[in-house]
Amino acid sequence: MGSDENIQLIRVSLIVTAPHPELRAICQRLLANVKRGLPDQTGDVLRVPARAYSDPAQWQREIEHIYLKVPLLVALSCDIPKAGDFMTMNIVGRPILIVRGDDGRARVLLNVCRHRGTLVATDECGSARVFVCPYHAWTYDRTGRLAGIPDRNSFGEPEVEGLIELPSVERAGAIFATISGDSVLNIEPWLGGMLPSLEALRLDALYPYRKTTTLKSPNWKIAADGYLDGYHIGFLHRDSIGKKSINNRNTYDCFGPHVRIGFANRRIHESETTLEADWSLVDYMSLVHYVFPNISMSGGHGEALQLSRLFPGESVDQSITVQHQYFRWPIEGEKTEAAESRRLTYEQVVRDEDYATTFGISAALSAMDNSPVIFGRNEPGNQNLHRHVARLTGCNLY
Ligand code: FES
Ligand SMILES: [Fe+2]
Repeated sequence: MGSDENIQLIRVSLIVTAPHPELRAICQRLLANVKRGLPDQTGDVLRVPARAYSDPAQWQREIEHIYLKVPLLVALSCDIPKAGDFMTMNIVGRPILIVRGDDGRARVLLNVCRHRGTLVATDECGSARVFVCPYHAWTYDRTGRLAGIPDRNSFGEPEVEGLIELPSVERAGAIFATISGDSVLNIEPWLGGMLPSLEALRLDALYPYRKTTTLKSPNWKIAADGYLDGYHIGFLHRDSIGKKSINNRNTYDCFGPHVRIGFANRRIHESETTLEADWSLVDYMSLVHYVFPNISMSGGHGEALQLSRLFPGESVDQSITVQHQYFRWPIEGEKTEAAESRRLTYEQVVRDEDYATTFGISAALSAMDNSPVIFGRNEPGNQNLHRHVARLTGCNLY
């Protein structure tokens, strides 16, 4: 074992054994829920008409008033740690380029050439000295500034400075942006009380596994319901990721539209006979941070974190899910096998268990006519999602 690896192990053990005090408090709440036999609950059940998931006009309002308006978490800082590192993606039809400049600032740019609209960067991620448009080779630097036009004398004066920059900010190890340039990005009020919880995840101290998983998923809210639901783990996932959990004893903390969900593991009982300073929280509990509207981060206080992004697709009944795996150490050499195994596990669970079920829901919606789907008092995360979607879209279906 080389010295670098020793340092890495020390770092990891610090992360595992010195958790944020707030995490210990969540563990205590989970144990209390296990003992009383109930999860955190909300005041009443919520009925959501099935049409809220299938109505094209409502879906269009969600694109316009949510995806194009609110700050979205578009990347983690560790996705583009160095100058020139970049990622591309398409969010509700807008091609986006996220790149770190030589000044260290992460910028979120429209990935659209100012000449005639070609995609400038075509790879999903990478590192670039400059970005050269494939059509006529206009060149943009790592800040998006237009740095070169071939045969400039023949062209005339384009009167553009560079790629269009979208409002963005980097906080708590994550990069947020608003996708329509006319929106204001005010991140602290938007994240509300979730910011300290995101900071505790130390997202900037993670390393991405560059191989991602892309899955077809149904309407984005049907898929999102699964990420906010602590009630199904022991049933739908009883033979996979649910084996270690105690079902339906979750904590739920809502921060505006965002939700943090705590999951009690079977080993949580060990905390009763262990000094608090020696608690192994990664064994006792799991956490999910749902960053509205489309990001679910599972884990993070231990050695790994899975980030799932939901992108609405081309119609109301479609979305695309992209899963990313992050670790507390760089993924290279012998670490690759474990990273790949984790990627495949989550791909399989979500595709064969969650999405197999949610595609069934999607197909059945039309048969429900006017009858609602029902969210129980034990499903406050889902209720929070639908209340905020209704508020932001002025939806009269709820
Ligand atoms: S479209 Fe990009 S250089 Fe012409
Ligand atoms: Fe699930």
